[in-house]
Amino acid sequence: MSEVDYLDTLLKEDRRFPPSEAFKAQANFNDPNIYDEAAKDPVAFWAKQAEEISWFEPYKEVLQWDPPHAKWFVDGKLNAAYNCVDRHREGPRKNKAAIIWEGELGGCKVYTYDMLGREVDKAAHMLKNLGVQKGDRVAVYLPMVPELPITLLACAKIGAIHTVVFAGFSAKSLRDRIEDAQAKLLVTADAGWRRGHQVPLKRFADEAVEGTTIETVLVVKAVGDSATYTMTEGRDLYWDDEMGKASTKPFPPEKMDAEDILYLLYTSGTTGKPKGIVHTTGGYMVGVHTSMRSVFDLKDSDIFFCTADIGWVTGHTYIVYGPLSAGATVVMYEGAPDYPDRDRFWAIIEKYGVTTFYTAPTSIRTFMKWGPEYVEKHDLSSLRLLGTVGEPINPEAWMWYHTHVGKGRVPIVDTWWQTETGCAMIAPLPGLTTTKPGAATKPLPGIIADVVDENGQSVAPGNGGMLVIKHPWPSMLRTVWGDDERFRKTYFGKFPDWYLPGDGAHKDEDGYIWILGRLDDVINVSGHRIGTAEVESALVGHQAVAEAAVIGRSDAIKGQAITAFVTLKEGVQGTDELVAELKETVAQAIGKMARPEEIIFTAELPKTRSAKIMRRLLRDIAEGRVLGDTTTLADPSVIEELKKLSKYQT
Ligand code: WTA
Repeated sequence: MSEVDYLDTLLKEDRRFPPSEAFKAQANFNDPNIYDEAAKDPVAFWAKQAEEISWFEPYKEVLQWDPPHAKWFVDGKLNAAYNCVDRHREGPRKNKAAIIWEGELGGCKVYTYDMLGREVDKAAHMLKNLGVQKGDRVAVYLPMVPELPITLLACAKIGAIHTVVFAGFSAKSLRDRIEDAQAKLLVTADAGWRRGHQVPLKRFADEAVEGTTIETVLVVKAVGDSATYTMTEGRDLYWDDEMGKASTKPFPPEKMDAEDILYLLYTSGTTGKPKGIVHTTGGYMVGVHTSMRSVFDLKDSDIFFCTADIGWVTGHTYIVYGPLSAGATVVMYEGAPDYPDRDRFWAIIEKYGVTTFYTAPTSIRTFMKWGPEYVEKHDLSSLRLLGTVGEPINPEAWMWYHTHVGKGRVPIVDTWWQTETGCAMIAPLPGLTTTKPGAATKPLPGIIADVVDENGQSVAPGNGGMLVIKHPWPSMLRTVWGDDERFRKTYFGKFPDWYLPGDGAHKDEDGYIWILGRLDDVINVSGHRIGTAEVESALVGHQAVAEAAVIGRSDAIKGQAITAFVTLKEGVQGTDELVAELKETVAQAIGKMARPEEIIFTAELPKTRSAKIMRRLLRDIAEGRVLGDTTTLADPSVIEELKKLSKYQT
């Protein structure tokens, strides 16, 4: 569906789903005044929320705001791992399940808070033994195994900065991130399971770390098949061996300053180089903990299942730090939704009595394609709240989720946020907000967001514009690692006092916000952010390619799919083999999720007279729309040629 048609569908959406009286009565946030109170004094609102976090030393000031730099909970001291694990070990949650881990092949491991605490402490001793100190960067390239959250929490306990690289990224992407972060230790695995096949992570890791700052590679035996890799003497060590040598005594949590860095997480932007988003400790913990109570209405009896990978921010916030800080039971699943069959998520919900299920619209559209029979095979009566994240959800997918998974009785929270924001920002409060299919609804209490025009004027209801956040919030990014100027320019360059997320949005008559998607050259493929510049730079790295322009075209399942327009060097023939080779080049350079869906060879790319590639035009061609204004095009005949080549032409 084109952007115009999509907006049209949204604007006609008139279904309303108010919260049930029963849900409202038990909700953590059920006083409607909370919105006004928080809007009047966001700083006071956040100070109140900070009481839910355990501080070793109290903060002296809630907020220091010197745009674009914010400091929250100034001089407060705390430890994220203490908040996520140890404080629960001291009370009635000691023997409560913290993590229920389900392996792709069917195995299950349960860590109570006390057991998790012992593992985290041992891992912290191990990392310390291996020379990791406060402030050091630890890179993590792991499949969804329990050692992943354990590593994160162990780093947090020491005060080391973790930077997780999603295991679907290529060796080159891992290397770029290691180099940018100057990491000294890498935690990886022999391999990971994906649909019953082994992904040889250690082999990729070997390629990535050669000649970098990495001194030690710790290898988790996630698969246990040593045939696919070798160990380098003096550099590579097995996780199990080193854990065996580590002390079993409690590890004293490092007293971190509220503004000490908790982690870096790389995300795509408009240039070829990913940005290391910097999150600090105090504000992040307050933000993520609050959203567990508000958006997810978390109760001690909840079983929380977020299907994201911890390689992305959703997993950081809603598998590790948020639910554990709030003392929840988290279900963590290792593998694919269709292994061994297409009902795996529903089987997991039934097996563990999941109450809260959080997934991405692209997954929901895939479930729709597979058909409701897979859902219907299972008893999902334990569910009491559903969530979505990662991209705009089309009303049809929302209704399917509501009808087939929620059986028409379970509220849905569509949560808008970003790697940069740390936690959910625009989302319903399930006990208060009347939802509309496709709308992220309203900014959460304490978040001041608006839709504005080019001049920063708030748009009137019924209009669209740019989304902005007008007041700092605790879990906001603090900077871009090693590049504060890029931070300032990207997020505060247009409006010096407001954060610019880079998303377009529509404000309706009730003041609800409907997110429409990215305004910059970032593509959202199945909820994964991929910069067009990254894919283009991978393509031009191939010897046959002279020039490349990459766009995201709309796709019924993935939200967006990548189309690459490629100009070849003189004398090179555009064959099917070359298409396959170029797709593989991108997979190697970035990761499989960035592999273009189609590659269109063209003698020239459409450019303006100032030599700017006309991406909108390319999108129109890829989506088969009637072409818009081409008067600024330097050579209009290029379009006719492209239309002939494109299989999407009308
Ligand atoms: C998009 C993922 C519409 C948006 C947490 C944002 C959404 C980008 C939603 C961030 C939503 C995320 N509705 N769009 N509920 N959630 N997005 O950094 O374009 O991987 O800017 O963070 O995803 O992606 P990121």
